[in-house]
Amino acid sequence: MQRAGLAWRREGLRVGLVPTMGYLHEGHLSLVQVARRRIGPQGRVVVSLYVNPTQFAPTEDLAKYPRDLKRDYALCRAAGVDAIFLPSDAVMYPGKAEGLYSTYVVEEQLTRGMEGSARPTHFRGVTTIVAKLFNCVLPEVAVFGAKDWQQAAVISRMAVDLNFPLKVVVAPTRREPDGLALSSRNTFLNAAEREQALVLSEALAACRRAVQKAPVKAAELKRAVARRVKTRPLARLDYVEFFDPKTLVPAEEVHRGTQMALAVFVGQTRLIDNGCL
Ligand code: PAF
Repeated sequence: MQRAGLAWRREGLRVGLVPTMGYLHEGHLSLVQVARRRIGPQGRVVVSLYVNPTQFAPTEDLAKYPRDLKRDYALCRAAGVDAIFLPSDAVMYPGKAEGLYSTYVVEEQLTRGMEGSARPTHFRGVTTIVAKLFNCVLPEVAVFGAKDWQQAAVISRMAVDLNFPLKVVVAPTRREPDGLALSSRNTFLNAAEREQALVLSEALAACRRAVQKAPVKAAELKRAVARRVKTRPLARLDYVEFFDPKTLVPAEEVHRGTQMALAVFVGQTRLIDNGCL
């Protein structure tokens, strides 16, 4: 991959990377389109497919993460992807099985709340693998989805802090017609759970309505979201947060332009969503 990346650079071809964990859906394909628009028809769009073990806690079932490589290849081909990067664990974490692998990338501020506190080892795995993907593919542009708002903020910070010579682009969340944000994890939902999963986008819409005329205390909105989630017997609120979209600093007063994020277990499946109010 590095040889290809270097060769493309020498030829003056622009390279765009869409990092994924596979099991692709329309949301991923929209990131491919954004990458293509950014680098132009002559450029090379690379999609990486790698279910990164270090961003899963031992309690989270890495083995259960959905996989369908054949389908991913077909979708990539149809979307005009130039190359798929499918690294092995041995390439991404050399010597790990023998206890030799010992280098990780840690962002220390933006990772403190939300997904960072709910999943304490998660972001260390994400920043490490994304830094490594940047080093392997050598892209000029890397595209991430806004659905993982905190992840996109952390990666943007990391790219600046570590002087990666590339631009991080954050592309809008794609949704089902009824509002559910597209996610590979939606595939785990049965019919009843799928229906109750709408509570995430409904909570966003309700908070958006609530702050249209005047600011509202975050504590009040949090209580309203918790009450709303409780009306769905299969759903359990993990967290809801209101914060500045750039700094991720929690807001006490919520107004138009404040970012909201929430994580909800629906059955056994943990879903996240976010939006600007
Ligand atoms: O968002 C994801 O799918 C993953 O966290 C990423 C960025 C591909 C890193 O493994």
